[in-house]
Amino acid sequence: MKKKNWVMFLCAVLAGLMIMSLTGCGKESSAGGDGVLKVRFTHVVAESTPKGKAVLKFKELVEEKSNGKIEVLVFPASQLYGDKEELEQLMANNVQFIAPSVTKLVGFEPAFQIVDMPFLFNDDQAAYDFYDGPAGQKLMRSLEPQGMLGLAWWPNGAKQFTNSKRPLRSPEDFRGLKFRTQSGGLLDAQFRALGAGSQTLAFAEVFTALNNKTVDGQENTFNNIDTQNYQDVQKYMTVSNHGRLDYVVLTNTTFWNSLSPENKQIIEEAMREATLYERQLAEEENQKSFEKLKASGKMEIYTLTEEDRAKFVAAMQPVYDEYTDKIGREYIEAAKSCNK
Ligand code: LMR
Repeated sequence: MKKKNWVMFLCAVLAGLMIMSLTGCGKESSAGGDGVLKVRFTHVVAESTPKGKAVLKFKELVEEKSNGKIEVLVFPASQLYGDKEELEQLMANNVQFIAPSVTKLVGFEPAFQIVDMPFLFNDDQAAYDFYDGPAGQKLMRSLEPQGMLGLAWWPNGAKQFTNSKRPLRSPEDFRGLKFRTQSGGLLDAQFRALGAGSQTLAFAEVFTALNNKTVDGQENTFNNIDTQNYQDVQKYMTVSNHGRLDYVVLTNTTFWNSLSPENKQIIEEAMREATLYERQLAEEENQKSFEKLKASGKMEIYTLTEEDRAKFVAAMQPVYDEYTDKIGREYIEAAKSCNK
């Protein structure tokens, strides 16, 4: 290389090094001129929910552990992006963290619909054991080829049915009704098996759709029903615990790979602590919401008996016939083995 070219080359390297030191870490592309790495966490639920509170806890822990060198900007309640957009924006690295209900990941990995397999998990503990075991961990990491890295399972809880038309005590009561679903496939099959129709709607649209009677009913956790005020537009609730609504915290893989080992460790530690907090909160908040819904007297509440449950299990057998292989027998068997 000629002397002049060497000088230009050195200048370019020095300029690069200066930019890297100004932004705090060259590959952490979101770091601003003040050296603070700003990351975005968006979600679709209220801040008072287990997910909403756990995101705030994660923010607090990350900011504390990094001495303010990482700032987590939180956008709740679909303020920034709804169900579909938050996934697109995560993949584009415009958002660094999301925690979607795993049902919404069906387009990427059908096995996530395991949470919707009717009556598969007997209780919360069985679901946690599955998530923390080898099958759950493998599933959590399955989106890496799509540029999304799973960091934690954040459960919400069991789903219950609500509707505006009539009490739902037996599979026959569902005939002719239309239910909102989070995402297609298995949930459509579930309602089909009950003789009902279904329509996929983003979470932010559900209250209006129930209010306008675009759909008659929906399925969700006690806490989502309560915090979205579905009791104002739904007259009946059936305590069925027929499926689950849980989350996977996802980050963008390119963003993750650009982090320094120290920052990765900070985020991993904060995520572990926020996850423990979230799990305890999910159970407490769902119980509180159930009590609140009962006390409000706005909905007529029916709890399935063992006998009713057996009828639903039989009616939903077609879902197992159609989806066991689509989800993967390995996952289904692993889930069943967690029921003690
Ligand atoms: C829903 O769409 O019903 C839920 O996934 C919302 C949520 O994130 O809890």
